Amino acid sequence: MITLITNIKELLQVRETSVSKVSGAEMAVLPTIRNAFLILEDDLIADFGEMKNLPEIKADQVMDATGKIVLPAWCDSHTHIVYAGNREQEFVDRINGLSYEEIANRGGGILNSALTLNAASEEEIYEQSKLRLEEVMHLGTGAVEIKSGYGLTTEGELKMLRVIKKLAENYPIAIKATFLGAHAFPVQYKENKAGYIDEIITRMLPEIAKNKLAAYIDVFCETGYFSVEETEKIMAAGIQYGLIPKIHVNQFNSIGGIQAGIKFKALSVDHLEVMSPDDIKALKDTETMPVALPSCSYFLSIPYTPAREMIKAGLPLALATDFNPGSTPSGNMNFVVATACIKMKMTPEEAINAATINGAYAMGLSETHGSITKGKKANLILTKPISSYYQIPYAFGSNLIERVFLEGKILA
Ligand code: NIG
Ligand code: FE
Repeated sequence: MITLITNIKELLQVRETSVSKVSGAEMAVLPTIRNAFLILEDDLIADFGEMKNLPEIKADQVMDATGKIVLPAWCDSHTHIVYAGNREQEFVDRINGLSYEEIANRGGGILNSALTLNAASEEEIYEQSKLRLEEVMHLGTGAVEIKSGYGLTTEGELKMLRVIKKLAENYPIAIKATFLGAHAFPVQYKENKAGYIDEIITRMLPEIAKNKLAAYIDVFCETGYFSVEETEKIMAAGIQYGLIPKIHVNQFNSIGGIQAGIKFKALSVDHLEVMSPDDIKALKDTETMPVALPSCSYFLSIPYTPAREMIKAGLPLALATDFNPGSTPSGNMNFVVATACIKMKMTPEEAINAATINGAYAMGLSETHGSITKGKKANLILTKPISSYYQIPYAFGSNLIERVFLEGKILA
């Protein structure tokens, strides 16, 4: 099946030769073609160029994109889309003065979601989670990472990972699964932290590896959660089982988690709301992608990742949603891109690079996703008629998406 899109006002993120990520000053460069055509063959990008060079082809489907912009679908490298229930009561509690930390300390937060998840059946969790996945696909997301971490029991964690696997089988979107058993210490292990880490290492990891349920291992490395030493122990065990680390660090405190991630060759270090000059320095010239989650900063009213300082230091940066019931009940990458521009002072070019090619890198998908490159997946956003791509962050509350293409097909 050949689809031809003609008269595209501007085709964004065009990379003749694929790059794996963009860093520092390169992030300000977003290669585009004005008045472009794009040819899709089945699920892949087959060709593109200026309209004046449009080859003679017989297309099965022709779409005229006059006045509209086409860009690669968003690559959301950090989500917790699979969960049960919600935490709207905690949201109201925070409005009334309690902090996220205070709520967690009285048994709410992640432990609250774990209670709900363990009480729900695998089918119920699947039914609830698939609605969120469908929602983000319609918001233009074409590849997504999903974590476990609300089970905190061997059974609960495996249940979540099986739901992620089922979603990956049933939807035309690339899904990467991450094992986050080390999200919080369950109540029964409050006084026996080593016991829970032992359960992760000796019970959960072997089952996950045996059933190929995850590609990545995550740890919430934070004061009151997992120490740097515990994080290292869990990452090392995950690596033994073939999982690559991608970790939650520096959300509230800078305690050395970034350095630990780099030491264990983490694919990404995520959150980074609190960054010391040493943290920024440590990331320089590494293969570890820093990932910012501005919707989490927005929802919790915590600092935003210091993007300007990081980009000035030559680092790459990816943007993701963190979609989860506690700190970010939103999976809208358009809002993430807008918030990165508005609150983190990223330029539209930097934010789009961060939400496409760098997001793909943070999921190990930059060979197939994140740019308009021949042979990559035909995962695209076609906008409504807009004056320029600046509208994407500028009109932050508007839905500017007319169509989403996933694997070459228009999403109904
Ligand atoms: O990325 N920080 C740790 N984990 C999640 C939130 C977990 C929750 O509150 O449910 C996050 O923000
Ligand atoms: Fe998270």
